[in-house]
Amino acid sequence: MAAATIVYRLIKFITRPSLPLPPGPKPWPILGNFPHMGQVPHQSLATLARVHGPLMHLCLGFVDVIVVASSSVAEQFLKIHDSNFSNRPPNAGAKYIAYNYQDMVFAPYGPRWRLLRKITSVHLFSGRAMEEFRHLREEEVGRLTRNLASSDSKAVNLGQLLNVCTTNALGRVVIGRRVFDDGNGGCDHRADEFKAMVVELMVLAGVFNIGDFIPSLEWLDLQGVQAKMKKLHKRFDAFLTSIVEEHKSSSSKSEKHKDLLSTLLSLRNVPDDDGNQLTDTEIKALLLNMFTAGTDTSSSTTEWAIAELIRNPRILAQVQQEMDRVVGRERNVKEEDLAHLPYLQAVIKETFRLHPSTPLSLPRVASESCEIFGYHIPKGATVLVNVWAIARDPKEWADPLEFRPERFLPGGEKPDVDVRGNDFEVIPFGAGRRICAGLSLGLRMVQLLTATLAHSFDWELENGLNPEKLNMDEAYGLTLQRAVPLLVHPRPRLAPQAYSTS
Ligand code: HEM
Repeated sequence: MAAATIVYRLIKFITRPSLPLPPGPKPWPILGNFPHMGQVPHQSLATLARVHGPLMHLCLGFVDVIVVASSSVAEQFLKIHDSNFSNRPPNAGAKYIAYNYQDMVFAPYGPRWRLLRKITSVHLFSGRAMEEFRHLREEEVGRLTRNLASSDSKAVNLGQLLNVCTTNALGRVVIGRRVFDDGNGGCDHRADEFKAMVVELMVLAGVFNIGDFIPSLEWLDLQGVQAKMKKLHKRFDAFLTSIVEEHKSSSSKSEKHKDLLSTLLSLRNVPDDDGNQLTDTEIKALLLNMFTAGTDTSSSTTEWAIAELIRNPRILAQVQQEMDRVVGRERNVKEEDLAHLPYLQAVIKETFRLHPSTPLSLPRVASESCEIFGYHIPKGATVLVNVWAIARDPKEWADPLEFRPERFLPGGEKPDVDVRGNDFEVIPFGAGRRICAGLSLGLRMVQLLTATLAHSFDWELENGLNPEKLNMDEAYGLTLQRAVPLLVHPRPRLAPQAYSTS
């Protein structure tokens, strides 16, 4: 192994291009830069970027890794050279969990990826589809509000209830029904299990698996990650197979299905313009993407938003004042109100800035060698965009660690900045061709949920904990979980009828 590494490095040295690689920490013998990744990689990499700069090169096993940590460098990769970085690198998660790359997240950039994006964009995320399913989202958020209002004296685990809500709202659109029963104040034990599965997937996908970087060691599965992935895949597959089979038998009885799964099933035997046809496995892989990428991302962002509002009572009071003025206290907020709530919108942007749910985004790979800012980016290099570090860059943001929504309002430092992938200072959904497919839905759910929770309730922490003492630590994983769940007492603040109607 040591000899192979030396030979590999020697060949790379002899065949090195005339341009230098970006700077970076010196790799260890054999281990390369693995020890630099630390316990929470987006944080370790942000610290390293302060020393080596926003365009950094690391060596993980046999793979060149480029880490991006400023908005101008991100723009180079995700806009100027986007077509060269539109694929994702090979990895165990895609192989063992996502049906061997048959999903959308890890599909090679090409006709099948385009087909999957087109189907989801037309049937789920287009303006028309979003409008068509608006009442379903509002109904599910209404259920959540009623459950919270009836929680009596018991503290609730807000993240868990939010997760039930986002999963059920998505379920109604994707498979035509709720996934969990939330009749008991959201306490369906399968919901706990499902969220745990999604979180486990994100934790496993966030591990820098040695086999991904040193292919000859893959079979050894040194960290035990691949074995856990295979086990988890079986559980997801059982869940998805039962959904697909149930749907096949129910749609043969009724013709009038409008959910995504019915559409997918009806497309199985119809080739598209490029001759592509969907298989059962591709359908399950796409459902897997929807239920993993599309649930916990939105619910945990909302959990962070409410945690910030509890920690900042002045800001919560200002949100509530705005909402009382625009919506009043007689009814719940509706999606059509959101456009008239500029302060709330600023709170959402500030939450996405400080707590992007995918802090290292999803990796991209260089299809060809190229030059960026005078440095050589080798073919096959993995690119990690440190979205978390970019949004805390002190060169871009005044007092970057402070939660200050005013920065996004007229007169603030970034009044026109948006989070939809055009302004590279804050790109929680990524940017370019492989930008988040569910951006419109994710953004809308976070807005509607945060607006509803801030408007409908005052909030106290469990055991009368002082809001200033609220633990805001981050846990490890591909997505940004709170290290300690948010346990709260919601106190209704609207007229009683607002909690009794759907
Ligand atoms: C707060 C909510 C969300 C955030 C912050 C988020 C973030 C992201 C990010 C950073 C990426 C990688 C983009 C890149 O490579 O540049 C991504 C990709 C993706 N997201 Fe989201 N996401 C959210 C919600 C959703 C929802 C609701 C869905 C679907 C129901 C979804 C489905 C996907 C899919 C399928 C991809 C892969 C796209 C591709 O490779 O072409 N996401 N998301």
